[in-house]
Amino acid sequence: MCPQLSNFAQSTGKSTIVGMRRRADELAAKGMRIIDLGGGQPNFNAPEPVKKAAIKAIEDNKSRYLDPSGLPELRTTISDNSQKFHGINTDATQIVVTPGTFGALSITTRAILNPNDEVLVIEPFWGPYRDIISLTGATPIGVSMPCVEGKFILDAELLSKAVTTYTKAILLNTPWNPTGRVLCKEELVAVADVAIKHDLWIISDEVYSQNTFDGITHRSIASLSKEVAERTIIVTSLSKSYAITGWRLGYAIAEPKVAEMLGRINQYSSRGAASMVQYASITAINEGDPFINEMNNEYKSRRDAITKGINDIDGVKCPLAEGGMFAFAEFPASWGDSTDVADYLLNEKGVIVTPGSDFGVASRHHLRLSFVNSLEIINEGIEVLSKALCAKYNNC
Ligand SMILES: Cc1ncc(COP(=O)(O)O)c(C=O)c1O
Repeated sequence: MCPQLSNFAQSTGKSTIVGMRRRADELAAKGMRIIDLGGGQPNFNAPEPVKKAAIKAIEDNKSRYLDPSGLPELRTTISDNSQKFHGINTDATQIVVTPGTFGALSITTRAILNPNDEVLVIEPFWGPYRDIISLTGATPIGVSMPCVEGKFILDAELLSKAVTTYTKAILLNTPWNPTGRVLCKEELVAVADVAIKHDLWIISDEVYSQNTFDGITHRSIASLSKEVAERTIIVTSLSKSYAITGWRLGYAIAEPKVAEMLGRINQYSSRGAASMVQYASITAINEGDPFINEMNNEYKSRRDAITKGINDIDGVKCPLAEGGMFAFAEFPASWGDSTDVADYLLNEKGVIVTPGSDFGVASRHHLRLSFVNSLEIINEGIEVLSKALCAKYNNC
């Protein structure tokens, strides 16, 4: 028998989506056709020039340790584009390159949280926030947001009411996974007011900043004023925008002094992102716009198809996502808990969807459907899922 693991390790939860994916693999091995509307894994390949740049970096022997805060040319490229990506002006000293947004979240939470601190997390929230915060000994406090006609609204009054003497930070995600909302200026101003009033940090996850639709553009809370920027740490990555989730390239943006500390923590944790990926990311940012446009056009068609398909089911309400890669649909409470609905769809019909309860208990009557897969797969998935849900819950 091995000695005991740490309390932090023992409190870490398992990922629902990883669990469903593994079960789907088992079902597939037994011959079941699996239709994946679960995760946020774009079905696009990395852009060709970016692949070539990575290969060139390997051939040019760019294989050594880099600065723990990131390759200087990459940090400069990111800061030169921070107006385009986040609506803020930065310089390279504010950028820390990490292995994905996960890496940026990990160093950020370690930099600002002490055990027993509380972080207000706007709910419904991306499940891993819970565990990333808990790993520092701090406590995530989900603050459930109202859902009006299927559309979630950020009500900062509710955040304000949840503040205690332990509260240290607010964690915000826009474009907002799973709701598909892109937060508007009024919502961001209201959150910033709460943060300033109670002297809180703001962690702003902007990983879907490049994936917005219908002319809606992303705006970072840090763009509101210098006072807000000083207390904000943006965490984001190239994973979704350039379809390179497995390459693990993310970054944090913070005030220079804070970024310096984040760089130190980065040094003693991951020691930064892989060198050839950092070189190739310069090409991604400089040459990737046509790829992003093409991908977003495709996502828009897929979003429209999935939203129409799910809304055609009696009793289901699903607003059009303004950004991100997900449709978040509310079903009648009489159907029961989302985990049971999602289990039924996977075990009986081979369709992977994420149960709403994974994003907080208040979403137990929601399902998240991703539109990262091809239109063909989405149409097939919607057909199977509609028939299955109607037969089981709507007696049709
Ligand atoms: C809201 C949100 N933040 C962060 C991540 C992690 O992204 P990365 O690949 O950059 O670590 C995801 C991935 O699905 C996400 O949905």
